[in-house]
Amino acid sequence: MIDEEIKLHAKEAEDIIYKYLPKEEGLQKRVFEAMNYSITAGGKRLRPVLMLETYRLFGGSGEVIEPFMAAIEMIHTYSLIHDDLPALDNDDYRRGRKTSHVVFGEAMAILAGDALLNYAYETACKAFDMNADVSLVAKALQVLASKPGVYGMIGGQVLDVLMTGHTMNEEQLYFVYENKTGALIEASMVIGAILAGADDEAINAVSGIASDVGHAFQIQDDLLDILGDSSIIGKPVRSDLDNGKVTYVTVHGIEKAQQDVRILSERAVNELEKLGYRNDFLKDLIISLVSRQS
Ligand code: IPE
Ligand code: IPE
Ligand code: MG
Ligand code: MG
Ligand code: MG
Repeated sequence: MIDEEIKLHAKEAEDIIYKYLPKEEGLQKRVFEAMNYSITAGGKRLRPVLMLETYRLFGGSGEVIEPFMAAIEMIHTYSLIHDDLPALDNDDYRRGRKTSHVVFGEAMAILAGDALLNYAYETACKAFDMNADVSLVAKALQVLASKPGVYGMIGGQVLDVLMTGHTMNEEQLYFVYENKTGALIEASMVIGAILAGADDEAINAVSGIASDVGHAFQIQDDLLDILGDSSIIGKPVRSDLDNGKVTYVTVHGIEKAQQDVRILSERAVNELEKLGYRNDFLKDLIISLVSRQS
Protein backbone atom coordinates (compact mmCIF):
# COMPACT_ATOMS: atom_id res chain seq x y z
CA MET A 1 0.00 0.00 0.00
CA ILE A 2 1.69 3.18 -1.19
CA ASP A 3 0.22 5.41 1.55
CA GLU A 4 1.75 3.21 4.25
CA GLU A 5 5.08 3.13 2.45
CA ILE A 6 5.08 6.91 2.11
CA LYS A 7 4.45 7.24 5.85
CA LEU A 8 7.33 4.90 6.66
CA HIS A 9 9.69 6.82 4.41
CA ALA A 10 8.56 10.16 5.90
CA LYS A 11 9.24 8.76 9.37
CA GLU A 12 12.67 7.56 8.26
CA ALA A 13 13.49 11.09 7.01
CA GLU A 14 12.05 12.67 10.13
CA ASP A 15 14.21 10.56 12.43
CA ILE A 16 17.27 11.75 10.51
CA ILE A 17 16.15 15.43 10.57
CA TYR A 18 15.55 15.28 14.33
CA LYS A 19 19.15 14.25 14.95
CA TYR A 20 20.28 17.60 13.59
CA LEU A 21 17.86 19.95 15.38
CA PRO A 22 19.37 22.52 17.74
CA LYS A 23 19.10 22.16 21.52
CA GLU A 24 16.72 24.65 23.12
CA GLU A 25 19.18 26.31 25.46
CA GLY A 26 21.21 29.49 25.89
CA LEU A 27 20.17 33.13 25.92
CA GLN A 28 18.74 32.79 22.40
CA LYS A 29 16.58 29.81 23.53
CA ARG A 30 13.42 31.47 22.19
CA VAL A 31 14.61 31.28 18.59
CA PHE A 32 15.53 27.59 18.98
CA GLU A 33 12.01 26.97 20.26
CA ALA A 34 10.55 28.77 17.25
CA MET A 35 12.80 26.84 14.81
CA ASN A 36 11.87 23.49 16.33
CA TYR A 37 8.18 24.41 16.65
CA SER A 38 7.84 24.70 12.87
CA ILE A 39 10.14 21.87 11.90
CA THR A 40 8.58 19.35 14.30
CA ALA A 41 5.04 20.28 13.24
CA GLY A 42 5.10 17.49 10.67
CA GLY A 43 4.76 17.97 6.98
CA LYS A 44 5.23 15.42 4.27
CA ARG A 45 9.07 15.53 4.34
CA LEU A 46 8.87 15.21 0.58
CA ARG A 47 12.17 16.92 -0.19
CA PRO A 48 14.40 14.83 2.11
CA VAL A 49 12.57 11.68 0.99
CA LEU A 50 13.14 12.56 -2.68
CA MET A 51 16.79 13.27 -1.88
CA LEU A 52 17.33 9.94 -0.12
CA GLU A 53 15.46 7.94 -2.76
CA THR A 54 17.41 9.56 -5.62
CA TYR A 55 20.61 8.77 -3.69
CA ARG A 56 19.46 5.16 -3.40
CA LEU A 57 18.46 5.08 -7.07
CA PHE A 58 22.11 5.60 -8.02
CA GLY A 59 23.34 3.10 -5.44
CA GLY A 60 24.16 5.60 -2.71
CA SER A 61 24.55 4.33 0.83
CA GLY A 62 26.16 5.84 3.90
CA GLU A 63 25.52 8.74 6.22
CA VAL A 64 26.78 11.63 4.04
CA ILE A 65 23.25 12.17 2.70
CA GLU A 66 21.87 12.77 6.21
CA PRO A 67 23.06 16.34 6.95
CA PHE A 68 21.86 17.34 3.48
CA MET A 69 18.42 15.84 4.15
CA ALA A 70 18.15 17.82 7.38
CA ALA A 71 19.43 20.96 5.63
CA ILE A 72 16.89 20.89 2.79
CA GLU A 73 14.01 20.46 5.26
CA MET A 74 15.35 23.39 7.32
CA ILE A 75 15.48 25.57 4.20
CA HIS A 76 11.99 24.47 3.16
CA THR A 77 10.64 25.17 6.66
CA TYR A 78 12.21 28.63 6.69
CA SER A 79 10.57 29.35 3.33
CA LEU A 80 7.17 28.38 4.79
CA ILE A 81 7.60 30.52 7.92
CA HIS A 82 8.42 33.56 5.80
CA ASP A 83 5.77 32.72 3.15
CA ASP A 84 3.08 32.79 5.87
CA LEU A 85 4.09 36.19 7.31
CA PRO A 86 1.50 39.00 7.19
CA ALA A 87 3.62 40.83 4.58
CA LEU A 88 3.52 37.79 2.28
CA ASP A 89 0.58 35.34 2.29
CA ASN A 90 -0.67 36.27 5.77
CA ASP A 91 -1.71 32.73 6.74
CA ASP A 92 -2.48 31.65 10.30
CA TYR A 93 -2.23 27.86 9.94
CA ARG A 94 0.52 25.60 8.69
CA ARG A 95 1.11 21.89 9.18
CA GLY A 96 -1.98 21.83 11.37
CA ARG A 97 -0.59 24.37 13.82
CA LYS A 98 -0.81 28.12 14.29
CA THR A 99 1.90 29.73 12.19
CA SER A 100 5.17 30.90 13.70
CA HIS A 101 4.32 34.60 13.71
CA VAL A 102 1.00 33.94 15.46
CA VAL A 103 2.69 32.01 18.27
CA PHE A 104 6.07 33.75 18.57
CA GLY A 105 5.34 37.19 17.08
CA GLU A 106 6.53 38.57 13.77
CA ALA A 107 10.05 39.50 14.86
CA MET A 108 10.82 36.04 16.20
CA ALA A 109 9.24 34.35 13.14
CA ILE A 110 11.49 36.38 10.84
CA LEU A 111 14.51 35.48 12.96
CA ALA A 112 13.53 31.79 13.20
CA GLY A 113 13.36 31.73 9.39
CA ASP A 114 16.75 33.41 9.09
CA ALA A 115 18.16 31.04 11.70
CA LEU A 116 16.87 27.92 9.94
CA LEU A 117 18.34 29.08 6.64
CA ASN A 118 21.77 29.65 8.13
CA TYR A 119 21.66 26.56 10.34
CA ALA A 120 20.92 24.51 7.23
CA TYR A 121 24.39 25.36 5.89
CA GLU A 122 26.08 24.74 9.24
CA THR A 123 24.34 21.37 9.22
CA ALA A 124 25.20 20.46 5.63
CA CYS A 125 28.87 21.30 6.32
CA LYS A 126 28.93 18.46 8.86
CA ALA A 127 29.17 16.21 5.79
CA PHE A 128 32.81 17.35 5.45
CA ASP A 129 33.59 15.56 8.72
CA MET A 130 32.16 12.30 7.46
CA ASN A 131 34.01 9.61 5.63
CA ALA A 132 32.95 10.70 2.13
CA ASP A 133 34.33 12.10 -1.12
CA VAL A 134 34.97 15.77 -0.27
CA SER A 135 34.65 16.89 -3.90
CA LEU A 136 31.12 15.42 -4.07
CA VAL A 137 30.17 17.12 -0.80
CA ALA A 138 31.47 20.44 -2.21
CA LYS A 139 29.48 19.96 -5.42
CA ALA A 140 26.32 19.17 -3.43
CA LEU A 141 26.91 22.27 -1.32
CA GLN A 142 27.08 24.42 -4.46
CA VAL A 143 23.58 23.23 -5.38
CA LEU A 144 22.34 23.83 -1.83
CA ALA A 145 23.76 27.36 -2.00
CA SER A 146 22.24 28.34 -5.33
CA LYS A 147 18.82 26.67 -5.70
CA PRO A 148 17.21 28.30 -2.64
CA GLY A 149 18.61 31.69 -3.64
CA VAL A 150 17.69 34.65 -5.74
CA TYR A 151 18.21 32.65 -8.96
CA GLY A 152 15.98 29.94 -7.50
CA MET A 153 13.32 29.78 -4.76
CA ILE A 154 13.61 33.40 -3.59
CA GLY A 155 13.47 34.60 -7.20
CA GLY A 156 10.18 32.75 -7.63
CA GLN A 157 8.78 34.16 -4.40
CA VAL A 158 9.76 37.67 -5.55
CA LEU A 159 7.74 37.37 -8.76
CA ASP A 160 4.87 35.70 -6.88
CA VAL A 161 4.72 38.73 -4.56
CA LEU A 162 5.19 41.33 -7.34
CA MET A 163 2.45 39.77 -9.48
CA THR A 164 -0.13 39.47 -6.70
CA GLY A 165 -3.30 41.07 -8.03
CA HIS A 166 -1.96 41.14 -11.61
CA THR A 167 -2.34 38.66 -14.43
CA MET A 168 0.75 36.74 -15.50
CA ASN A 169 1.81 35.66 -18.97
CA GLU A 170 3.04 32.10 -19.59
CA GLU A 171 6.68 33.06 -19.18
CA GLN A 172 6.06 34.67 -15.80
CA LEU A 173 3.84 31.84 -14.62
CA TYR A 174 6.51 29.30 -15.62
CA PHE A 175 9.20 31.31 -13.82
CA VAL A 176 7.21 31.37 -10.58
CA TYR A 177 6.59 27.59 -10.61
CA GLU A 178 10.08 26.67 -11.76
CA ASN A 179 11.61 28.71 -8.98
CA LYS A 180 9.41 29.11 -5.93
CA THR A 181 8.68 25.36 -5.82
CA GLY A 182 10.73 23.63 -8.51
CA ALA A 183 14.09 24.88 -7.25
CA LEU A 184 14.03 23.09 -3.87
CA ILE A 185 12.71 19.88 -5.41
CA GLU A 186 15.46 20.06 -8.02
CA ALA A 187 18.05 20.70 -5.31
CA SER A 188 16.78 17.67 -3.37
CA MET A 189 16.97 15.20 -6.23
CA VAL A 190 20.15 16.60 -7.78
CA ILE A 191 21.99 16.50 -4.43
CA GLY A 192 20.92 12.86 -4.01
CA ALA A 193 22.33 12.06 -7.45
CA ILE A 194 25.58 14.00 -6.89
CA LEU A 195 26.35 12.38 -3.53
CA ALA A 196 25.73 8.93 -4.99
CA GLY A 197 28.34 9.70 -7.65
CA ALA A 198 26.02 9.88 -10.67
CA ASP A 199 27.60 11.23 -13.88
CA ASP A 200 26.80 14.66 -15.36
CA GLU A 201 24.39 13.28 -17.95
CA ALA A 202 22.37 11.50 -15.29
CA ILE A 203 22.46 14.59 -13.03
CA ASN A 204 21.05 16.70 -15.88
CA ALA A 205 18.30 14.18 -16.51
CA VAL A 206 17.44 14.16 -12.79
CA SER A 207 17.24 17.94 -12.84
CA GLY A 208 14.65 17.81 -15.66
CA ILE A 209 12.65 15.12 -13.89
CA ALA A 210 12.64 17.13 -10.66
CA SER A 211 11.53 20.23 -12.54
CA ASP A 212 8.47 18.36 -13.84
CA VAL A 213 7.75 17.04 -10.35
CA GLY A 214 8.04 20.58 -8.99
CA HIS A 215 5.62 22.08 -11.52
CA ALA A 216 3.12 19.27 -10.95
CA PHE A 217 3.49 19.63 -7.18
CA GLN A 218 2.76 23.37 -7.21
CA ILE A 219 -0.20 23.05 -9.60
CA GLN A 220 -1.66 20.41 -7.25
CA ASP A 221 -0.99 22.78 -4.32
CA ASP A 222 -2.96 25.48 -6.15
CA LEU A 223 -5.78 22.99 -6.84
CA LEU A 224 -5.90 22.03 -3.16
CA ASP A 225 -6.18 25.72 -2.25
CA ILE A 226 -9.51 25.63 -4.10
CA LEU A 227 -10.69 22.03 -3.74
CA GLY A 228 -8.88 20.82 -0.62
CA ASP A 229 -9.97 20.31 2.96
CA SER A 230 -8.08 22.53 5.42
CA SER A 231 -8.20 19.84 8.12
CA ILE A 232 -6.35 17.49 5.75
CA ILE A 233 -3.91 19.96 4.18
CA GLY A 234 -3.18 21.54 7.57
CA LYS A 235 -3.28 25.07 6.16
CA PRO A 236 -6.08 27.40 5.09
CA VAL A 237 -7.97 26.90 1.83
CA ARG A 238 -8.86 29.83 -0.45
CA SER A 239 -5.75 31.69 0.70
CA ASP A 240 -4.72 32.35 -2.93
CA LEU A 241 -8.17 33.63 -3.79
CA ASP A 242 -8.28 35.93 -0.75
CA ASN A 243 -4.83 37.28 -1.63
CA GLY A 244 -5.71 37.85 -5.29
CA LYS A 245 -3.03 35.41 -6.47
CA VAL A 246 -2.86 34.47 -10.11
CA THR A 247 -2.11 30.74 -10.35
CA TYR A 248 -1.97 28.06 -13.01
CA VAL A 249 -5.54 27.20 -11.99
CA THR A 250 -6.93 30.73 -12.33
CA VAL A 251 -5.22 31.06 -15.72
CA HIS A 252 -5.99 27.61 -17.19
CA GLY A 253 -8.97 26.35 -15.19
CA ILE A 254 -9.34 23.33 -12.91
CA GLU A 255 -9.66 20.67 -15.59
CA LYS A 256 -6.54 21.60 -17.55
CA ALA A 257 -4.63 22.01 -14.31
CA GLN A 258 -5.59 18.49 -13.18
CA GLN A 259 -4.71 17.08 -16.57
CA ASP A 260 -1.32 18.80 -16.59
CA VAL A 261 -0.43 17.50 -13.11
CA ARG A 262 -0.94 14.03 -14.58
CA ILE A 263 0.97 14.72 -17.80
CA LEU A 264 3.96 16.26 -15.98
CA SER A 265 4.11 13.41 -13.45
CA GLU A 266 3.88 10.74 -16.14
CA ARG A 267 6.65 12.43 -18.10
CA ALA A 268 8.79 12.53 -14.96
CA VAL A 269 8.29 8.81 -14.36
CA ASN A 270 9.00 7.94 -18.02
CA GLU A 271 12.25 9.89 -17.92
CA LEU A 272 13.13 8.23 -14.61
CA GLU A 273 12.71 4.80 -16.18
CA LYS A 274 14.97 5.78 -19.08
CA LEU A 275 17.89 6.34 -16.67
CA GLY A 276 18.50 2.63 -16.51
CA TYR A 277 18.39 2.46 -12.71
CA ARG A 278 15.48 1.25 -10.67
CA ASN A 279 13.70 2.52 -7.57
CA ASP A 280 10.07 1.44 -7.57
CA PHE A 281 9.21 3.44 -4.47
CA LEU A 282 10.47 6.67 -6.05
CA LYS A 283 8.34 6.02 -9.12
CA ASP A 284 5.24 5.25 -7.04
CA LEU A 285 5.85 8.32 -4.87
CA ILE A 286 5.92 10.65 -7.90
CA ILE A 287 2.71 9.12 -9.26
CA SER A 288 1.03 9.35 -5.84
CA LEU A 289 1.56 13.12 -5.83
CA VAL A 290 -0.97 13.44 -8.68
CA SER A 291 -3.84 12.49 -6.39
CA ARG A 292 -2.46 13.79 -3.11
CA GLN A 293 -4.98 15.46 -0.83
CA SER A 294 -2.48 16.94 1.62
C1 IPE B 1 4.29 23.65 0.70
O1 IPE B 1 5.12 22.53 0.59
C2 IPE B 1 4.84 24.76 -0.12
C3 IPE B 1 4.84 24.48 -1.55
C4 IPE B 1 5.93 24.55 -2.25
C5 IPE B 1 3.62 24.14 -2.23
P1 IPE B 1 4.66 21.11 1.12
O2 IPE B 1 3.28 20.81 0.63
O3 IPE B 1 5.72 20.11 0.79
O4 IPE B 1 4.58 21.36 2.69
P2 IPE B 1 4.86 20.36 3.91
O5 IPE B 1 6.35 20.27 4.03
O6 IPE B 1 4.22 19.03 3.60
O7 IPE B 1 4.25 21.05 5.08
C1 IPE C 1 4.96 28.67 -1.54
O1 IPE C 1 3.91 28.68 -2.43
C2 IPE C 1 6.25 28.32 -2.08
C3 IPE C 1 7.30 28.66 -1.09
C4 IPE C 1 8.49 28.98 -1.48
C5 IPE C 1 7.06 28.63 0.36
P1 IPE C 1 2.50 28.83 -1.70
O2 IPE C 1 2.38 30.14 -1.03
O3 IPE C 1 1.44 28.40 -2.65
O4 IPE C 1 2.64 27.68 -0.58
P2 IPE C 1 1.53 27.39 0.53
O5 IPE C 1 0.25 27.08 -0.20
O6 IPE C 1 1.44 28.60 1.39
O7 IPE C 1 2.09 26.18 1.24
MG1 MG D 1 3.15 32.06 -1.24
MG1 MG E 1 1.56 30.51 0.95
MG1 MG F 1 -0.31 27.33 -2.03
